[in-house]
Amino acid sequence: MNVLWIFAHPEPRSLGGSLRDEGVHTLRERGDEVRESDLYAMKWNPVVDADDFGSAAESDRLIVGSTSKNAFRTGELSADIRAEQEKLAWADAVIVQFPLWWYGMPAILKGWFDRVFVKGFAYGVQRPDGRTARYGEGALAGKRAMVVLTAGAPEATIGPRGVNGEINDLLFPLQHGTLWYAGMSVLPPLTICGADRVSAEEYVAAAEALRERLRTLSTQDPIPFRHQNGGDYDDSLVLRDELAPGRSGIGVHIL
Ligand SMILES: Cc1cc2nc3c(=O)[nH]c(=O)nc-3n(C[C@H](O)[C@H](O)[C@H](O)COP(=O)(O)O)c2cc1C
Repeated sequence: MNVLWIFAHPEPRSLGGSLRDEGVHTLRERGDEVRESDLYAMKWNPVVDADDFGSAAESDRLIVGSTSKNAFRTGELSADIRAEQEKLAWADAVIVQFPLWWYGMPAILKGWFDRVFVKGFAYGVQRPDGRTARYGEGALAGKRAMVVLTAGAPEATIGPRGVNGEINDLLFPLQHGTLWYAGMSVLPPLTICGADRVSAEEYVAAAEALRERLRTLSTQDPIPFRHQNGGDYDDSLVLRDELAPGRSGIGVHIL
């Protein structure tokens, strides 16, 4: 497989950095091709800028969405964005690794998605029937994605009734709203909890859990998110009443 490993941590000697090294080594050892986007090491610019989209010659409107659409079609995107898109196009699977910061991803990683997942590349693709291809369909369909994260919180607190909420709820914006939205199949995340106080034994267990998940990267069942165009949603993209009756919230979008 061709695997793109996206890593968002400022310190390569951190727990996250060690796990990244383990993971990349594991993949290469079994014959996978690996390319990396180490965002801090690359000094990735996370801030969307008008310069990202070249000259707005086709439109004088200063609206990022419309400008980015034009820029992708006319090949005017910044070189750093195009390089990341080329890696994504090459990849069969993408690992997105980060420490959980304030219930989400570090800003540098959010800015990677903001700048790289532009209209026409990651979304905004029309199906032949005129519907928009998203949530399970779209430009990045056929690729797999898996989140690998470390979190300071103990495991129980990221459990079903834990104070931090469930991990798939915390990751809903990334896993459902970004990766699945763009068409990617999202594997269950690997979360290393209690990451601020990891003993030697716990590190060995975490590294083995990561290796196991990577060995089965191409065969694991993805999270069964509902397809937008699979019949579960009405024309307003609201889940039909007869599905998950009486329930609401994030969980209803998973079969
Ligand atoms: C700015 C910041 C915000 C954090 N927010 C959270 C959080 O919301 N939930 C959590 O469980 N841990 C949180 N943590 C703890 C980190 O997740 C933890 O320190 C990290 O995953 C440990 O891995 P590392 O040694 O590779 O950095 C936060 C840490 C920092 C620095």
